[in-house]
Amino acid sequence: MKVMGVSGSPIYDSNTDRALKVALEATGLETEFIKLVEYKITPCRACIGCVDTNTCVNTNDDGIFLAKKAKEADALIIACYTPYSSIDSLTKAFIERLYPLRHKHGFMAGKPGGAIVTCAIPAANKALPPAGDMAINAIMFYMMEEGMNFVGAVKILGNVPCIKCGYGNECKTSGIKMIYGNEATVQSVGVNKFEEQLDAFDAARELGKRIAGALKVKI
Ligand SMILES: Cc1cc2nc3c(=O)[nH]c(=O)nc-3n(C[C@H](O)[C@H](O)[C@H](O)COP(=O)(O)O)c2cc1C
Repeated sequence: MKVMGVSGSPIYDSNTDRALKVALEATGLETEFIKLVEYKITPCRACIGCVDTNTCVNTNDDGIFLAKKAKEADALIIACYTPYSSIDSLTKAFIERLYPLRHKHGFMAGKPGGAIVTCAIPAANKALPPAGDMAINAIMFYMMEEGMNFVGAVKILGNVPCIKCGYGNECKTSGIKMIYGNEATVQSVGVNKFEEQLDAFDAARELGKRIAGALKVKI
């Protein structure tokens, strides 16, 4: 039994990556951590050239290689961050390039799956877009559409890039002010770490356990 974990976060050792690793570890199974930024992956071209072979015809990037890995895996956890309230582009391209696995066979069907999402907008802030929910839905709906067994999601409060850009306190488009109000500063907001968010940490472990549990049910 092998669980594939895919992170679309381009930052190394990011909140997203660390949460994914906790979930993978909690499965107690063989796992593989894939950092999408280390691969070349472009969007699906909707040419339907994969319909008879279940293999993409675009041989210019790593899409075929990554789809083969997903096909071989028994479970899949997709982790992303949320630029402009959506899943990041690497994650989206990865999901689109799994389309060849669909035709006639549904190679992903029945596999347990989960989502991990890091967003800078706190869920309680109803004045701004629900970035976390948008991203979880995108991953969950992919898994539902492929007949996978979506077992759960983890939402992490990440950091608006303005925390570390050097202009977060005075920039007129500062995300710190946008999210936390005009009085907020880099110092008052601080750095959000996954490990300090106990609900998220527990949810990541629970996700891993649920994946393992679903695989045992399948055996
Ligand atoms: C171009 C860009 C746009 C972003 N837009 C949003 C956004 O609309 N909503 C949000 O919650 N976070 C947004 N973020 C913040 C990321 O979600 C945040 O940096 C996330 O914590 C990064 O995750 P990581 O620590 O795992 O890399 C944006 C980040 C970037 C770089």
